[in-house]
Amino acid sequence: MSDEQYFTNQPIAKSTVGTSKQKTAPLNIDNTTLQLVLDSGVFARKGVDAGTMVLIDAAAKPPTSGTFLDLGCGSGALALTLATRSPNANIYAIDVNQRALQLTASNAQLNGIANITTLLPTSVPPEIRFDLIWSNPPIRIGKTELHALLSLWLGKLTTTGEAWLVVNRNLGSDSLAVWLVSIGYQVDRLVSKQGFRVLRVRPTRVADQPAF
Ligand SMILES: C[S@@+](CC[C@H](N)C(=O)[O-])C[C@H]1O[C@@H](n2cnc3c(N)ncnc32)[C@H](O)[C@@H]1O
Repeated sequence: MSDEQYFTNQPIAKSTVGTSKQKTAPLNIDNTTLQLVLDSGVFARKGVDAGTMVLIDAAAKPPTSGTFLDLGCGSGALALTLATRSPNANIYAIDVNQRALQLTASNAQLNGIANITTLLPTSVPPEIRFDLIWSNPPIRIGKTELHALLSLWLGKLTTTGEAWLVVNRNLGSDSLAVWLVSIGYQVDRLVSKQGFRVLRVRPTRVADQPAF
């Protein structure tokens, strides 16, 4: 499989990615089924990713309102889930891939969802802080780039905010958890299912620290 979708902001026609080639897949959330249009050049073009579904099934119910982030939204499965579970929240869906942003926006419209804003990461107003981040992060961009990406966006959590990440165990979920702790986050490895680990990441609060 080509990794162009990870690095390119405008996937172009070539043999491994192809021109836009869409298909529609069901996205089952709680008792609702949404329709998700997938496309070549965007992650999970053949069906909703198994890791993404593990996160959707494992994550705690999001707060009813607040400012949320889907970091690396792809075709929008996580953003649409957040929007469905928390219709009063403001959800930012960001990706470096323009086709992914267009797909997330059109998938929101297709499902009658109005509380998702799609943006390139560089267009997110710098003062915004997030109460909740969900991400199936782009592990394949490389460790240094991944650490920089997570440092940046986790640093935008509110003091009581939390991030839920799903990471393939074979792609380093446990070492990622160790690194997150080393830079000061509280990490709970909550679920291990189908080869994926779900991590809950929270800023370490003063009250959490030992009193000596
Ligand atoms: C593993 S995919 C997950 C996609 C989607 N959330 C899902 O669950 O199907 C990771 C996504 O991160 C995006 N990405 C890569 N580098 C990024 C960056 N620096 N900032 C934001 N998104 C990035 C990729 O384009 C890709 O869509």
